[in-house]
Amino acid sequence: MDALIQRAHGCARAVICVHLHFLLKGGYKVVNKPTRRTDDIIGKDLWNIQLDDNGQLKHFLTIEGLGTNILNQILDTAESFAGVNESVKKVPLLRGKTIVNLFFEASTRTRTTFELAAKRLSADVLNMNISASATSKGETLLDTLRNLEAMQTDMFVVRHADSGTAHFIANHVAPHIRVLNAGDGRHAHPTQAMLDMFTIRRNKGADFGKLRVAIVGDIMHSRVARSQIHALNTLNTGEVRVVGPKTLIPKDIESMGVNVFHNLTDGIKDADVVIMLRLQKERMQGALLPSEQEYFQLYGLTEERFALAKPDAIVMHPGPINRGVEIESSVADGDRSVILDQVTYGIAVRMAVMSMTLGGNVGSNEAANHQETK
Ligand code: CP
Repeated sequence: MDALIQRAHGCARAVICVHLHFLLKGGYKVVNKPTRRTDDIIGKDLWNIQLDDNGQLKHFLTIEGLGTNILNQILDTAESFAGVNESVKKVPLLRGKTIVNLFFEASTRTRTTFELAAKRLSADVLNMNISASATSKGETLLDTLRNLEAMQTDMFVVRHADSGTAHFIANHVAPHIRVLNAGDGRHAHPTQAMLDMFTIRRNKGADFGKLRVAIVGDIMHSRVARSQIHALNTLNTGEVRVVGPKTLIPKDIESMGVNVFHNLTDGIKDADVVIMLRLQKERMQGALLPSEQEYFQLYGLTEERFALAKPDAIVMHPGPINRGVEIESSVADGDRSVILDQVTYGIAVRMAVMSMTLGGNVGSNEAANHQETK
């Protein structure tokens, strides 16, 4: 029996690795700031299982391959929910639906805002405690899924250390179940990227073509950076820059449609938006940095350096932040920091994605019309 379990587990990992290879191989091939409508890609990206036959969002696994229309639909729907969040606490759009949070990796912001989003849509939410689940007794991922499916669940929100896990799960669940990627390895974190786009749009307006956005830090290991780059280019951002040491920037990153800077002062000069990233030490193999102190000296965002960006520039960070490593406290807590707004907007954006995938095509009026009392 043990051998069977081991083999099934190994098989699942092998499939994930194949997905990972495929996804990451494709990950650097989207270039030249494409403006894509969903119509252009239905039936062409066969691996892109996140759209249904009508081009509507079915799962949300990656930004890559989605058109400008879908990204704007997410942002517009989130806008209506942001209003709802401010005036009322709940809408009944997903009443009767059961959503399972499957977090195999640590999370503060993503897990809690997914939970709040589901509750504000009136869904029932189950937070799996993975360390106390049968996974720790050797149950395979697929067996865990089958058992959760047997409880009439409707959606899995998945975070996993292995790239490709959310795709793997979406490929193996029952047809009515929806899967949202809450971060897989270093591959993608699509809802984070969309709440970041929402934050930019709220602060800088909807015309991304006018904006220069600098993403600073550990691009190499960052699923957030990868998803942000795809989202920014799909929304036709004027210039997307990545800034960091050579050891933390993938060699062929230009093919994603970004400009590369290894010097922070050049990289953030005249930027409208500066996005700081954490050093993803848990994903680093070997010594890629001399020390955190030296990293801060070269790449830490201080007030003096931030003054090189445009006077009305905003600073963002997906969190968790490491004060004194990638960012100085006075910048993180300063007037132009929107770091906590990002967290707040995460609820509305996750409500938007949940309702679009599970509740059908929810427009802003529909969201507003479904308001309940506090
Ligand atoms: N930004 C982000 O994914 O944070 P958590 O790891 O706390 O979810």
